[in-house]
Amino acid sequence: MTEDEKELNEATILRFGASGDVEVSTYLEEATEALGKEKTATETGVSGALRETIIIIDMGSQTTQLIARRIRELNVYCELISYKTKWDEIKNLNPRGFILSGGPNSVYDENAPLPPAYVYESGLPVLGICYGMQSIAHQLGGVVSPSNEREYGHAVLILTEEQSSLFKNVDTTTPVWMSHGDKITKMPPDFKSLAYTENTPIAAMGLNNKIFGIQFHPEVMHTAQGKQMLKNFVYDICHCNGTWTMDNFIKESIAKIKEQVGSGRVLSAISGGVDSSVVSTLIHRAIGNQLTCVFVNNGLLRKEEAERTIKVFREKLGIKVNYVDASERFLSAIKGVTDPEQKRKIIGHTFIEVFEEESKKLGEVDFLAQGTLYPDVIESVSSVSNISSVIKTHHNVGGLPKYMKFKLLEPMRYLFKDEVRKLGSELGLEEDLVWRQPFPGPGLAIRCIGEVTKERLDILRNADWVVMDEIKKAKLYREMWQTFAVLTDTKSVGVMGDFRTYSYALAIRAVTSSDAMTADWARLPYDLLAKISNRIVNEVRGINRIVYDITSKPPGTIEWE
Ligand code: XMP
Repeated sequence: MTEDEKELNEATILRFGASGDVEVSTYLEEATEALGKEKTATETGVSGALRETIIIIDMGSQTTQLIARRIRELNVYCELISYKTKWDEIKNLNPRGFILSGGPNSVYDENAPLPPAYVYESGLPVLGICYGMQSIAHQLGGVVSPSNEREYGHAVLILTEEQSSLFKNVDTTTPVWMSHGDKITKMPPDFKSLAYTENTPIAAMGLNNKIFGIQFHPEVMHTAQGKQMLKNFVYDICHCNGTWTMDNFIKESIAKIKEQVGSGRVLSAISGGVDSSVVSTLIHRAIGNQLTCVFVNNGLLRKEEAERTIKVFREKLGIKVNYVDASERFLSAIKGVTDPEQKRKIIGHTFIEVFEEESKKLGEVDFLAQGTLYPDVIESVSSVSNISSVIKTHHNVGGLPKYMKFKLLEPMRYLFKDEVRKLGSELGLEEDLVWRQPFPGPGLAIRCIGEVTKERLDILRNADWVVMDEIKKAKLYREMWQTFAVLTDTKSVGVMGDFRTYSYALAIRAVTSSDAMTADWARLPYDLLAKISNRIVNEVRGINRIVYDITSKPPGTIEWE
């Protein structure tokens, strides 16, 4: 996959995707529904000094979220809204400029999305990208011509002699990335042509250093100077100050959490994953011991995971954690169960039972902390996206009973995953935790094919430990989306020393992905695979054969069950 495809893919995945750190929130997800909490694009988590916002209007492109991430990387806050969003819903964000995203439509399509009038009436700077540029041309009196052929891929942008702040510090010829069918054949009145390519006579246009249209995509990596152009737009044209830093975010969030919670109590279910750890640490910074964390050990965790998590929270972070060892309860609940969906359901329900019992013990609790991230919020408000069908039930397993009426505390609601990792680092969390790979809520149960017993879990745990150890030693841990072992229910014949063995076959799974909706099997070096195989067969009793899973998603899924 090329870098462009990877980025596009990433954006597509983000668009349809679940957040990476699915563990605990999976079970708590429906609490949001149960509480009837409306998620709107404008219910923003930022305030005060951070309030300068670039408004990105989503016209349906697969790269809209990439635009948002690039702007945030420039330390400027931005929000993604639907083209149907009313001005009243965004005016309090202190908009500094608009970016109109690309999109799959032609402006001539029936019901084609078009930017609302306030985009132009506000007098704020506007940057239209691809379809966004075509909508500007269409709305302001230019001509967009349909074309039968799509221009897709690399092109060389050549700047005209017209001076423009958008191209400050950009070379007069520079590589850009195109993906469009229609193109502009006549600019709206008074617009100046700023750049062209071999196939696109008007590749960039501008009006009075205020309204710009560019036919290429500055947000993808192959537009080498795309970030410079976006920087010019937000700083030189929209005059943003760059207040979106994690340091500022922490200060403002702390103030906001304090105000929201008052003297109330907050409960947080931690799993050892990134999102629940970061959100708990942030809340703890704000309200200290008004926060109680609950860590449920379901007996399906990886080797030493429970111990390590508790240690970090209690000793390093000084956060109160109620540790509940419910391993026996979970294991007896799934005894004899081999169907993956059944396993999930039982584990989900047992989690809720245990969590409910624990929260009752605490007495009055006002808020439930959740590590909801921005892609989840966008998902629920996007007007143009479709929602892919659910393949496994993990997106809607369980949920808290309706009578458990907590208010939700979701301070990371406006952050992307990369920002959550940055936040975690700024809060002093260890790199190991901040970069932890996602781990499914039902844990090793769905990696232990067939019946889940303590003995089989121990075999799997030991093998999984070796995989992780070797991947970390090879410095590949961060590059991989997930790397783990799967204990199959197949036994095969082997020979060890002079003895015949008849033991389980173990599969190694290593995938690269951006958000789990698609994934590619990782091309791990042969020597590394050899080392992992050799170590497991020698070190883990009960396994005599190792296979490497070379299935991508689709058609496979990441987990085997
Ligand atoms: P699949 O197997 O569907 O997994 O390709 C996609 C991502 O989701 C994780 N996963 C789960 N997470 N509960 C969870 O919290 C589940 O039941 C579950 N099943 C899969 C998986 O690890 C991968 O990151």
